[in-house]
Amino acid sequence: MHIKGKNYRTVWYEEGVIFAIDQPKLPHSFEIVKLYNHNEVYDAIKTMVIRGAPAIGATGCFGMAQAIANYDGEGDFKEFLEEISSYLKSSRPTAYDLTHGISHILEAVKGKSLLEAKKIAEREAQKYADDSVDACRKIGEYGNELITDGMNILTHCNAGALATVDYGTALAPIRIAHSSGKKIHVFADETRPRCQGARLTAFELAEEGIKHDIIVDNAAGHFIRKGEIDMVITGSDRVAINGDAANKIGTYEKAVLAKENNIPFYVAVPFSTIDFNCPDGDKIPIEERNEDEVLYMSGWSDKGEFERVRISPDKSTARNPAFDVTPAKYITGIITEKGIFKPEEIRKLKNG
Ligand code: MRU
Repeated sequence: MHIKGKNYRTVWYEEGVIFAIDQPKLPHSFEIVKLYNHNEVYDAIKTMVIRGAPAIGATGCFGMAQAIANYDGEGDFKEFLEEISSYLKSSRPTAYDLTHGISHILEAVKGKSLLEAKKIAEREAQKYADDSVDACRKIGEYGNELITDGMNILTHCNAGALATVDYGTALAPIRIAHSSGKKIHVFADETRPRCQGARLTAFELAEEGIKHDIIVDNAAGHFIRKGEIDMVITGSDRVAINGDAANKIGTYEKAVLAKENNIPFYVAVPFSTIDFNCPDGDKIPIEERNEDEVLYMSGWSDKGEFERVRISPDKSTARNPAFDVTPAKYITGIITEKGIFKPEEIRKLKNG
């Protein structure tokens, strides 16, 4: 993605160090963090310094490659791999890409000597990230075919370049439509409590010069009913084989609104997000995050200081599920790197 005239990936790996765009700092400041070991990788994913399913998936790969590179050969290598992989996987449970990425590295180093495994893991992690960028670009090309000049598109959360290694999923078609000269306008849901829409999607759209308005989460129904939104595109953290899709909390209600008002609702995902072992949305683990994210509002002051303010009574408690499941019946189509499929076609894609 282009940021201040330079090209960046969201996360990358060089000589044993993982580099990533520090997302909680955006849009206030653009900083790169460096991660040196698996504990730092775990924390970066857990605290959402790196977030978004495909970005987490690539980070899982780099985290495994780094842990293997740092391994001193003491103890049983197989046990070490099992321990590190379950630890990293537990950082965020809903995004299937994390399991997918880590399993890819485990499979690649299976039965290899430590010396071989160090080389293979790094090579495979780099390839995984490159393939992920290609997949997102193709999602953009397929999704662009659905977008016509003058469209108003609603998106929820951030499924852009910052949520992937590059390009994005839901934002990839929008990016390509814009660069091919189509005049489009995006409604970006604010996406409480972490405000990925207001902070990150808006940041990406502003950097690309794509016209957009941020709306509070509760405003989507108003604009859809008034006919101001033509299409909804979101990402997903895990798609089950019956086509149910988990995504950022609030996605489900946008899908219901879309169906009620006869506008299409698309989910954009690479194959790495499809969990072919998951029969339906009820089996998708839903992360529940700390209640403080709801009870407090936080942001950057004009003086550049991070501020956190409690907005609820001291005695109040909160529930904070990070994701919800949109049943397949509300999904018009699933945009992937291999084409656009009906939700009911997903189970047939298992072997390719
Ligand atoms: O909690 P987050 O910010 O990691 O949630 C991200 C989303 O919900 C995205 O829509 C999803 O991961 C798809 S990213 C291309």
